[in-house]
Amino acid sequence: MSVRVIVGAQWGDEGKGKVVDLLAQQSDIVARYQGGANAGHTLVVGNRKYVLHLIPSGILHDGVVCVIGNGVVIDPAALMEEIALLESFGISIEGRLKISHKAHLIMPYHKLIDTLQESDQKIGTTGRGIGPAYIDKYNRTGIRIVDLLDRVQLEEKLRSGIAQKNEWFRKVYDAPELDVEKTVAEYLEFDQKIDPYVTDTAEYLNDAWRSGKTLLLEGAQGALLDIDHGTYPFVTSSSPTSGGACTGLGLPPTAITGVVGIVKAYCTRVGNGPFPTELLDEVGERLRKEGDEFGATTGRPRRCGWLDLFALKYSVMINGIDEIVLTKLDVLNGFDELKVCTGYMLDGRPVKHFPSDCTSLDRVEPIYESHRGWGESLEKCSRYEDLPAATRSYVEAIERFVGARVSYIGIGPGREEVIVR
Ligand code: IMP
Repeated sequence: MSVRVIVGAQWGDEGKGKVVDLLAQQSDIVARYQGGANAGHTLVVGNRKYVLHLIPSGILHDGVVCVIGNGVVIDPAALMEEIALLESFGISIEGRLKISHKAHLIMPYHKLIDTLQESDQKIGTTGRGIGPAYIDKYNRTGIRIVDLLDRVQLEEKLRSGIAQKNEWFRKVYDAPELDVEKTVAEYLEFDQKIDPYVTDTAEYLNDAWRSGKTLLLEGAQGALLDIDHGTYPFVTSSSPTSGGACTGLGLPPTAITGVVGIVKAYCTRVGNGPFPTELLDEVGERLRKEGDEFGATTGRPRRCGWLDLFALKYSVMINGIDEIVLTKLDVLNGFDELKVCTGYMLDGRPVKHFPSDCTSLDRVEPIYESHRGWGESLEKCSRYEDLPAATRSYVEAIERFVGARVSYIGIGPGREEVIVR
């Protein structure tokens, strides 16, 4: 029995989908606790590539139940598309997908607002309506799955929500208005389709935990995009950090037995915001090309840079990470020299803690430690001992600096290209 949280330890896109897919094999339940269709988990199984945005990647394993928790914001269109895609691949989700009745819905106006606001704000969001949906949630004007049950009230809420947003579109953005009747009809239809999956997931998960089941609690995005602990305001609007697992699922902190941090062997970031180790040269270009660093959700090229251990140590601290899965180590094959950032200098002085303001983070100078690269491919390695000495030394330097053990190492995109240590 175990209840482990899986968190992205950097700025997202660390390869969580593949790790969840791997760990799901030893689990009964995989439960997603925050975010929405802004996430994109790419999985390569055989010669098929799956990109999942909302449904946890555990769904690819028969017998694993997947939960979308109350902390997630659900775009009906994206969810239905994903269910249809899985079914087209012959993957049955019958009885294996449970959706919280308390999860909030993303409405068409959320997506529109997200796109319109970007023209002023320039956070570089995914445009999936995530921020605006969470705004309505915390403003106590959101529409939840449970609201779909009461048609009269749903219609009322939809009408007032759309009318209010339409007024705002007219005044502020001169944007086209939304059609109330069309939206009401769409959401009522969604209600019928989603009905078989809707559950009191907090009850379900607590029962499972108490009866000794093995649970994986899956966060989306990454700790440095956390609304509280990330590089605010260049963050997402929810809590990807491990603490978010409790509020986003209704499981108590006492249930959690461990926190697994997913760490990419270098750093990437999509969208705007500080990135101290970013490489704007041919090395960054090489990482992007070798690592195929293009967004799974938006297709945007990801910004690339050296591994930032100073930021990672902060992430290990706020998440309580006790185990690391190091991903995409093979992308570093063939470099003569590798650098890792072990601290920052600001105005000629070393910085003590990971800065909480973007103005400082934008100005810091990374302090680099140099590591010998390894020329050869890691393809033939199946055990940790098979890895070249320089590769092991890179892995062990990470462990020493952040104080958490690396237990799995990704050496290629395929499901089986993982070294278990
Ligand atoms: P939002 O989550 O769409 O509001 O975007 C806010 C910030 O989080 C932007 O910088 C996005 O690029 C980033 N972001 C959102 N989802 C992901 C993800 O799954 N991976 C990496 N970055 C993400």
